[in-house]
Amino acid sequence: MLAIQVHAFEPDNLRLESVDSRSPGPGEVLIRNQAAGVNPIDWKTAMGGGASGFIESFPWIPGWEFSGVIEALGEGVTQFSVGDPVLGFIRFPHPAGCYAEEVIAPVSEITLRPEGLDATTAAGLGLAGLTAWQALFDKGQLQSNEKVLVLAGAGGVGHLAVQLAKTSGARVSATSSAKNHTYLKELGCDLVLDYQELDMQSLANEFDLIIDGVGGDTAIEALVALKPNGRMVTLPSVTASQVEAAAEGTDVTVLSIRAEPNADQLAQLASRVAEGKLNLKVAQTMPIAQAAEAHRLSASGHVSGKIILTL
Ligand SMILES: NC(=O)c1ccc[n+]([C@@H]2O[C@H](COP(=O)([O-])OP(=O)(O)OC[C@H]3O[C@@H](n4cnc5c(N)ncnc54)[C@H](OP(=O)(O)O)[C@@H]3O)[C@@H](O)[C@H]2O)c1
Repeated sequence: MLAIQVHAFEPDNLRLESVDSRSPGPGEVLIRNQAAGVNPIDWKTAMGGGASGFIESFPWIPGWEFSGVIEALGEGVTQFSVGDPVLGFIRFPHPAGCYAEEVIAPVSEITLRPEGLDATTAAGLGLAGLTAWQALFDKGQLQSNEKVLVLAGAGGVGHLAVQLAKTSGARVSATSSAKNHTYLKELGCDLVLDYQELDMQSLANEFDLIIDGVGGDTAIEALVALKPNGRMVTLPSVTASQVEAAAEGTDVTVLSIRAEPNADQLAQLASRVAEGKLNLKVAQTMPIAQAAEAHRLSASGHVSGKIILTL
């Protein structure tokens, strides 16, 4: 089968290569992959940052989320059948190998793809969707009467967080550049803020919860916008300790997060998309051979929605 492989953490290191097929082990299934989602953690890891500490050997096949069809069952697998369409966010942060024609997935981390959800869209839902869900509800403990601010509201995580927060009954604000304001209002944002012109002091004590998709100084400056006892869930792990330190001794809490595979939550996200209650924006689809171009595009930091690699 063909897969994108990385042989060293260095620039221009994504190679489309022929790789031996493997058989699923106990509790695993073999997937004929149709699409893989691209996330910032993919290019960060390929460059030696991100989750690279969990990559113990080369070659490494990037990608943690996919959608495809089950081709073979490992020992003990009874809850799925050959031919089932599925999606998954798997093994994170350990190697998962989703930029490939075949994926071996643990059944505990995949879910059936409902009718009405195509493979391309489904492939982008796992990592960003579960991050948004877990940041808002598990870490952030968002309540229905609260006010939430999403920094980077138009991004892969942000556009889903905005919609999930709104559906839960919260009042939702988000930051983006001006070009995404109409889009974010269409998603249900009560207030959209242009980060290029925003003075955070003007939002002092406004929000119960901030979901921070930007990190660093932007996150630190946004702490002032939290009410007393407010919470910020900061997504970029590289600056999380810096943001946590900035909140020390104040009346607000900063929480870091690492998204976790969760088949039950993923099934709920997939149903919502299939029923038209949640929109996953596919910014661009590209054939797997263009994975390097997809990484460059994601690394530009201005994609709205998700980039999907097709197989
Ligand atoms: N800890 C975890 O488990 C976890 C999980 C997922 C993601 N993350 C991290 O969270 C971050 C966001 O992930 P993502 O997938 O949503 O990224 P993404 O899709 O690449 O985000 C792109 C978006 O960021 C916006 N943006 C760029 N600079 C901004 C700024 N200064 N203020 C507001 N918006 C800004 C852009 O909007 P404009 O085009 O309008 O500028 C664009 O829509 C990344 O660092 C990622 O690695 C962490």
